[in-house]
Amino acid sequence: MCGIIGCMKKNKSNVAPTLLYGAKKLEYRGYDSVGIATYSDKIHVKKDEGKIEEVHKRLNLYDMPGSYGIAHVRWASVGRATKENAHPHTDENEKVAIVHNGTIKNYATLKKELKSEGHTFTSQTDTEVIVHLIEKFMDDGLDLEHALRESTKLLKGSYAIVAISSDEPYKMVATRKDSSLVLGVEQDSYYVASDILAMLKYTRNIIELEEGEIVVITDEDYVIHDKFDNPINKEITVTPWTPEMIDKNGYPYYMIKEINEQPEVIQKTLNDKNKIRAVLDDIGDFERICLIACGTSYHAALSGKYIIETVAKIPTNVILASEFSHTLNVLDEKTLVISVSQSGETADTLKALKMIDEKIKTLSIVNVETSQMPKVTDYSIITQAGPEIGVAATKTYLAQVCVMYLMAGILGNDSELIERLYEVPRYIEEILERCDELKVYSKRYSFVNDLFYMGKGFSYPTVLEAALKMKEISYIHAEAYASGELKHGPLALIDFTMPVISVIPPGEDHDLAVNALEEVKARKTLILTIGSENDDIIEDKANDCFLINPEVDEEIAPLVYIVALQLVAYYITVEKRLNPDMPRNLAKTVATE
Ligand code: F6R
Repeated sequence: MCGIIGCMKKNKSNVAPTLLYGAKKLEYRGYDSVGIATYSDKIHVKKDEGKIEEVHKRLNLYDMPGSYGIAHVRWASVGRATKENAHPHTDENEKVAIVHNGTIKNYATLKKELKSEGHTFTSQTDTEVIVHLIEKFMDDGLDLEHALRESTKLLKGSYAIVAISSDEPYKMVATRKDSSLVLGVEQDSYYVASDILAMLKYTRNIIELEEGEIVVITDEDYVIHDKFDNPINKEITVTPWTPEMIDKNGYPYYMIKEINEQPEVIQKTLNDKNKIRAVLDDIGDFERICLIACGTSYHAALSGKYIIETVAKIPTNVILASEFSHTLNVLDEKTLVISVSQSGETADTLKALKMIDEKIKTLSIVNVETSQMPKVTDYSIITQAGPEIGVAATKTYLAQVCVMYLMAGILGNDSELIERLYEVPRYIEEILERCDELKVYSKRYSFVNDLFYMGKGFSYPTVLEAALKMKEISYIHAEAYASGELKHGPLALIDFTMPVISVIPPGEDHDLAVNALEEVKARKTLILTIGSENDDIIEDKANDCFLINPEVDEEIAPLVYIVALQLVAYYITVEKRLNPDMPRNLAKTVATE
């Protein structure tokens, strides 16, 4: 859950600004601490606790000599967020410096052994064992790449590692297992990083490193060795992502930029209809679907269940990836397992996929093509959301839901549903144009401590997602319930201190959802309803209403109503003077179980 980058400038220009820029682009993976190591006559290290901008102000991270080096942004997992635990880590003599993303499960045993051999540890991290192992193997006479290879043979867990050594100047080595690592190749420089966002400004030419491969980068060239240590040739591919895609384009935060990109994301997803059809044709017959995902992707999967069961009539089960092991017994060869993930790196979801018998077909719906998930599933569909930087998922969620609507339409031969999806970008535009109305409502709800969301049927996953968005960026406690469940317990929570946000699109569930609204209205609390224009019934029952185009009925509402709810969460967060792009304690890629 950290971000790592290494860069070698063949033209010998100063590397620190490039490393810092790359680290900044990886900050969505963690922002507890940051550090840089460069080489010029010796290894130079600067690191500290805090976000890049704060640390840069204190230490001037540009002021680092050398034309190659490594950098790291950390999401603390093993060891608190302190300067000592920040990467890069070095051995006692600063002969070796490394950055690491992943978790070494057997680090405690290795640490004990290394300590007994006289190594001195200065941090509480799992990573520090790697640097001492490399040092030890180099002291035994191995070069840097073979010392790295021997070290990884002793590691249990996940890692992407970049290492440099003052004993072998102008060389940088990197490898990975269960954490991603991408090599970038340009005329005048080489890059290696957790993902392409770190290098996109400089190159779009990339090579994905496979498990066990080691790349040796020098100031002249790079060589990739396979897991048997044989040099191999790997094709360079050009990523479809462009540097413009990761600009804020004048928006104050990535989150609001990404919310505004959603009409285009839906359009691009719909353009992929034939590709999705081809994947489903390849997969062939199946009788059941099991969707696995975490967090926001889990809510997208739940929306998928509603539409797939309604339209394609295929029994669909949705399981939290971290709870998946209990479902293994009921999977058979007639089940299609679908993992849904924005990052494609979520450890819980990858672990679940690894448990599945090879005979069972697996499909991943993933936004990051170079991530691990497409590599470990039989089939994959790449969502067309483009890079998402804000930690709170917005446009990737909508892209996932849209893919599942297309799948439902294709599997259920429902061309009418598919036709209706083409109107969705217009409905979203209409909401975005009226965002000022939501801003006004948001001011009113920004100082509450608790919020209660309710929605019925197709809108139930929507309110679950809306409540998650609210809690993760505004830190307001938010609960979401299916409207029909209110009377079975949570109604006891409702009084004037617990405002309610209800989602009531037109359709079969409308009247029962209104009944639930009556129940909360009777408890004299503040109510904001997201509903349909011309719905006099709800206008009468809510204090505040945001009304959406009446053509949007309950079936397609999950692709539209969520946008208003994302905006409410965003505006409340900004109103509270919080940064929606960097919520506390969270990171975008959750590569830890
Ligand atoms: C919330 C959010 C998380 C992720 C979850 C799974 O806004 O983004 O809840 O959805 O960590 O991540 P992915 O989709 O990368 O598997």
